[in-house]
Amino acid sequence: MQHIVIAIDGPAASGKSSVSRALAQRLGFVYVNTGAMYRAVTWHALQLAIDPSDASAVEHLLETTALECCTDGGQSYFLINGVDPGEALVSPQVNAVVSKIASQPLVRRRLVAMQRGYAERQPAVVEGRDIGTVVFPNTPHKFYIDASPEVRAARRAGQGLHDSVVQRDAMDSTRKDSPLAVAPDAEVIDSSYSSVDEVVENIFKKLDAKGITPQAR
Ligand code: CDP
Repeated sequence: MQHIVIAIDGPAASGKSSVSRALAQRLGFVYVNTGAMYRAVTWHALQLAIDPSDASAVEHLLETTALECCTDGGQSYFLINGVDPGEALVSPQVNAVVSKIASQPLVRRRLVAMQRGYAERQPAVVEGRDIGTVVFPNTPHKFYIDASPEVRAARRAGQGLHDSVVQRDAMDSTRKDSPLAVAPDAEVIDSSYSSVDEVVENIFKKLDAKGITPQAR
């Protein structure tokens, strides 16, 4: 059985993580950050000095690594051989190559299956690049959060993070398997000039009109 899924997609630094986390909190749903899963696999590959473009080395890595999806207080996290990489997930080294790892079909197949598992257990706000197009194409609740490239670059710089969002977007949008794309039935929200609270309120109202209301955790 699949519970309610709110799919939130969008390019890098569009504000979708902050919006998804706050929306999940308000609804009492679990928040699933699928980008963190691709980042965790990337972190692990870097630790073992595996070339992120080497498909067979990455395949071997996946076969020999324990991956675990967990939740704590409505927040999802991901363990790699029992370890949560924490802040290392957003390191410049991971930012630089995560899109390469994420372009590999085998990695996607393995992680997508785990992402679907969350919704078998509880209602979820799931955030990523292919959630409305590939992971949960049948959910009727899809949002695509965008912002201008200038605003997105400024947001990332404001967080003090070194991250070439333009380069990552280019790779994510042009890869063969599950590229970043707007699902035909997604509602596009431009967050360039809106606060997180305003975007959350906007989505919350649209969901409320469809009968999706907060639940106790
Ligand atoms: O937070 P930000 O938007 O910068 O990125 P993220 O959501 O942490 O995702 C990091 C990278 O993982 C993306 O640039 C994609 O290459 C990949 N990703 C993906 O391919 N599919 C997803 N559903 C989520 C992330």
